[in-house]
Amino acid sequence: MRVLITGGAGYIGSVMTEYFVAKGFEVWVLDNLSRGYRDAVADDAIFVEGDINNALEIFDSKERFDGIIHLAAHSRVEESVQNPSLYWENNAVGTHSILEFARIREIPRFVFASTAAVYGLSAQSPIVEDTPPSPANTYGMTKLTMDMAIDSYSRAYGLTGTSLRFFNVSGTYRGRRERHLPETHLIPIAISKIKGGDKVTIFGSDYPTRDGTCIRDYIHVVDLARAAELALGRSNEGSYKVYNLGNGNGYSNLEVVRTISEVLGVSCEIEFSKRRDGDAPELVTSSRLITEELGWTPSIPALADIVKSSLD
Ligand SMILES: NC(=O)c1ccc[n+]([C@@H]2O[C@H](COP(=O)([O-])OP(=O)(O)OC[C@H]3O[C@@H](n4cnc5c(N)ncnc54)[C@H](O)[C@@H]3O)[C@@H](O)[C@H]2O)c1
Repeated sequence: MRVLITGGAGYIGSVMTEYFVAKGFEVWVLDNLSRGYRDAVADDAIFVEGDINNALEIFDSKERFDGIIHLAAHSRVEESVQNPSLYWENNAVGTHSILEFARIREIPRFVFASTAAVYGLSAQSPIVEDTPPSPANTYGMTKLTMDMAIDSYSRAYGLTGTSLRFFNVSGTYRGRRERHLPETHLIPIAISKIKGGDKVTIFGSDYPTRDGTCIRDYIHVVDLARAAELALGRSNEGSYKVYNLGNGNGYSNLEVVRTISEVLGVSCEIEFSKRRDGDAPELVTSSRLITEELGWTPSIPALADIVKSSLD
């Protein structure tokens, strides 16, 4: 099977590329390297440096793909609020261009990296696919809009479209790891602070949760690749599905920092700062739907194992 992975030089894309190459797929990567790294792409994949907006010009019409895994996007929440123009252009217009590429070149399967951010500050726990979306920032709005675009393309043009809504992703796979600049995710930030002997800051200690800090659902990055493989294998032509991907267990920020400290065997100093705007107290999902329909379950559900993998 020949698959095109957009954003394959980024964190999740580099893991997916390694995974699909190891599984024997012919993998092509399209990435403009705006936020990715050429050396993150597996040697056995075919790398094309270019923008998702130009796919129709970049790929000769004789190049046939069986499916697209579309990961290329910008994903910094704060930046999306400060510069919505960039996010609508890159995430919405860019995704529309890739959808057009799929339609015109008759590529039958489309898997999209959506996000928990579409649910905004939802008070429901666990969040399920029927939970009403209500994004609280431009990043989440662009992803939700594109979920809807894929739905309509699937119905009208016979695409098999799947949106995978990732919750908090962490971990490494065959040396592929998070290299976001700036890093905004708790696990890599806390690892680097604790290793450097610096204080770890936790925002908010007065949330209505078991220890007062925010609760999030962590998923190992390789489990996303497994889900994408199952989504590519869906055969219902013209159907669109949304699946939430988490491990169903919420961990508080305090629990995450303490787990990292334990795994490293190093004590750490924690400082509590005031709440940040827009942080929901708890964001935990149930992945029951993808388990029932595609047989997916997380292979690395324990937080300590996800942390150990992040240290590799
Ligand atoms: N990391 C997470 O925790 C998380 C959670 C939910 C959803 N997601 C989604 O998963 C996807 C991948 O996330 P990531 O953490 O690997 O991000 P990343 O920034 O590491 O990777 C994104 C890649 O896309 C490329 N890219 C961006 N715009 C492009 C364009 N116009 N044309 C070609 N390439 C372009 C970048 O150069 C980069 O290599 C994103 O769509 C993100 O919204 C990530």
